[in-house]
Amino acid sequence: MQKRIVRRLDLERFLSQVEPHPSPDPSLEQYTVSIDVAATMLHIASHVNGDVVGKTVLDLGCGTGRLALGAAFLGAKQVVGVDIDKMAVGVALKNSLRTGLEKRVQWVAGDIDVLCGVFDTVLQNPPFGVQRRKADRRFLEKALKAGKVVYSLHKHPVADETLMNRLRNGKGNPEAVSSSPFLTRFVEEHGGKIMGVYGIVMAIPHMFNFHKKRRHEFIVDLYVIQGRR
Ligand SMILES: C[S@@+](CC[C@H](N)C(=O)[O-])C[C@H]1O[C@@H](n2cnc3c(N)ncnc32)[C@H](O)[C@@H]1O
Repeated sequence: MQKRIVRRLDLERFLSQVEPHPSPDPSLEQYTVSIDVAATMLHIASHVNGDVVGKTVLDLGCGTGRLALGAAFLGAKQVVGVDIDKMAVGVALKNSLRTGLEKRVQWVAGDIDVLCGVFDTVLQNPPFGVQRRKADRRFLEKALKAGKVVYSLHKHPVADETLMNRLRNGKGNPEAVSSSPFLTRFVEEHGGKIMGVYGIVMAIPHMFNFHKKRRHEFIVDLYVIQGRR
């Protein structure tokens, strides 16, 4: 298959067409991944590691489909997105129709556990477990069962202003950071191996009452994990 290299700017333009959730539910931690973070994650998965073009991709907790559609846009062979929220899946479907990618992405409205099968690559921005404890662990466990390689976003374990400033000054470039001892143990116990962790700044608009500022900024860690398959 011919490799199609999409420039980051074109990827960001595409991702900006993917509408976010119109009425996000804080209990499901339904914030849409920022365009910047989605582009970085897809860039590393696709252009650095070769895990997207021509591959089968699963987006767990797909929301309105930004990661799933980004993977399809870059040239994934087949993409499946699953989310428990029917409204999010409805918006994802509209997003796929509007962007002309409906033939390459299938949407499933249901719990992540309704899906079975093995995919080349899992992309996920799971609930961080801030509202429902351990929500991220269920996602990680499922991802390790379903994917040969997993790209998973997690909350950076501590507030780190120095790292935040470095990342801001780095104009969106990710920085290698240490993996959390808890996640390292969890991944290894479930048969996976962490290949790299990258800190990235996520900026999202004010969405929930507990957001104090107009723009909410925090560090997310992108884990690249070899699955047990
Ligand atoms: C942080 S949001 C991310 C949405 C989307 N992936 C994105 O990055 O824009 C987490 C998503 O997981 C979904 N979710 C939460 N629990 C779920 C479950 N048990 N099964 C499937 N989806 C779930 C939520 O509805 C929400 O859309």
